[in-house]
Amino acid sequence: MKTGISLQAYNTFGIAVKAAGFVSVTQVSQLQELLGKEQDFFILGGGSNMLLTQDINQTVLHIALKGFQLVEGPVGANELLLQVAGGENWHDFVLYCVANNLGGVENLSLIPGNVGTAPIQNIGAYGVELKDVFHSCEAVSREDGSLRSFNLEECKFGYRDSIFKGELKDKYIITSVTFKLSKDSHKVNTAYGAIADTLKAKKITTPTITDVSDAVIEIRQSKLPDPKQIGNSGSFFKNPTINQARFTELRKQFPDIPFYPVATDKIKVPAGWLIEKAGFKGKRFGDAGVHDKQALVLVNHGKATGAEIWELAIRIQKKVKEIFKLEIVPEVNVF
Ligand code: EPU
Repeated sequence: MKTGISLQAYNTFGIAVKAAGFVSVTQVSQLQELLGKEQDFFILGGGSNMLLTQDINQTVLHIALKGFQLVEGPVGANELLLQVAGGENWHDFVLYCVANNLGGVENLSLIPGNVGTAPIQNIGAYGVELKDVFHSCEAVSREDGSLRSFNLEECKFGYRDSIFKGELKDKYIITSVTFKLSKDSHKVNTAYGAIADTLKAKKITTPTITDVSDAVIEIRQSKLPDPKQIGNSGSFFKNPTINQARFTELRKQFPDIPFYPVATDKIKVPAGWLIEKAGFKGKRFGDAGVHDKQALVLVNHGKATGAEIWELAIRIQKKVKEIFKLEIVPEVNVF
């Protein structure tokens, strides 16, 4: 495609592919109307969890729905429900909560992306996942524009997974998410090593949600590249989960491998460690590279194409398979 609209500013990898057309959607009714007439759109939220490897022959629907609203509903004495439009920036939402003394999302500070795309992969960090504060969401069907609601159970959340990545992949557009947040006496979650260490270094013994948010921001800034400065999509791969027998075998060969038991006979090993051991940390192939402080993050040093980053991802997958006999699969969506 020679002419078209550049999507470089709309994906955090900063890939300069073009789209056949572009419409910014600011009202749910506008979205329903558009989908009632035509269904062949490319849906774009915050563009933070995708790698674009080619031009897009469709019209892009940019979800720019905005707004926050308290909603009525049966909740505990210390809780409230806040409905947030899908086009709100995730981190702005977290900052809004912290500023208004609403607890539950402070560990999820500084995650790139939008509120409406967060449930798709059940975003998570530092011991908290979106599902822990999720009440429900509203979504528009891509087939006929009808609006429906999904509760927690219906979303089938898993590790970086949900129904919107599985059986309902590409079937719905999430227009708002309703969160269940605490109003005071917040239960802060500081069990994750890096948070505990940061708070200790600051001599904070009874942390507020602001302290936790600040600590997470500090940790993320020290390890993860800011997409405004260097294109990236956060963790590129998921951490693989293996059974005990496989893990015992692996540990014999690599005694220093970090691990987290997640369920009976299920052990998660960090892909970042595997990639570093495979020799890729800080490596660069043209403008496609591996971040020097966290090997799970692939970066665009400037002019890399999506295809070049994808080529690097495949090279890493192959090497990890060769050394550890483990498959690592992308967490980001590749187009
Ligand atoms: N590690 C290495 N080398 C590296 C990177 C990590 O040895 O280059 C080791 C660390 O030393 C540590 C272990 O791997 O022992 C885990 O590292 P870290 O705590 O940084 O977490 P992660 O498993 O690499 C996950 C999430 C991140 C999230 C952090 C913190 C996934 C795919 N990623 O990373 O999420 O911020 O935990 O909770 O689960 C994202 O999804 O975009 C993302 C950034």
